[in-house]
Amino acid sequence: MAASPVRRLKLPRIIGHRGAAKHAPENTLAGIRAAAAQGVLWVEVDVKLTRDGVPVLMHDETLDRTTSGKGRVEDHTYDQLLRLDAGRWFGPAFAGERVPTLVDALDLVAKLDMGINLEIKPCPGKGEETAGIALTTAISAWPEGRQPPLVSSFDEGALETAMRIVPNWPRGVLIDQPRPDWLDLVERLDASTINVNARREDADSVAAYRASGRPVLAYTVNTAAAAAEVFGWGVRAIFTDSPPAVAPALKTVARPAPGT
Ligand code: G3P
Ligand code: MG
Repeated sequence: MAASPVRRLKLPRIIGHRGAAKHAPENTLAGIRAAAAQGVLWVEVDVKLTRDGVPVLMHDETLDRTTSGKGRVEDHTYDQLLRLDAGRWFGPAFAGERVPTLVDALDLVAKLDMGINLEIKPCPGKGEETAGIALTTAISAWPEGRQPPLVSSFDEGALETAMRIVPNWPRGVLIDQPRPDWLDLVERLDASTINVNARREDADSVAAYRASGRPVLAYTVNTAAAAAEVFGWGVRAIFTDSPPAVAPALKTVARPAPGT
């Protein structure tokens, strides 16, 4: 049975991945602004907790790749993260960029009149805690009346927590490896969308997902040729590091049926 929020969920075709990760440092406010400047309507960001329970945007479990810091995110307080540079690694033009809080990001996204997919990306064993704090925070920060964020995760505990805390916000089940029990999973979590790894799916698997009545979103698609292929399978939206690179593929797609 199709999940109830599907009918209310308006999705764009292109979602900026971690902001616009090829054009600006990922999971930063500069990244969100870059996506907006490219005409993107939605961004996806990854959310983790600091040691003192502040939800921040960060993909990796460690600070090393995307900041001037070292070590595990969960071992650092927010004050410690504030002292780090989250932009210089990407390019000198972004020096001084900070690790944003979830509230910083939601405020900016709303101000830019965009939509957002919050991927709850917990440190190991912290799915429920991360979703609980992040979504409680997000409820207060997100303006009433705007289409709520799509909440996604690979972590089932995080999505179960989302069902409790924000039952009316749409949930997306993230599937990295195709799994035989996917329908049980999406039904149990009353998911609105099925978010899959484009490299591990094909036309048949996407057709099967869509037959459940849910739109399929695919990551991470960075060329127009790949985008045209996955749209041809019936994928509703793609996550991309480079919106300008995939934009030509939009000419190849027909309007989708409502909700799928
Ligand atoms: O939410 C889609 C995609 O971001 C999932 O993978 O590792 O890039 O967060 P990852
Ligand atoms: Mg992500």
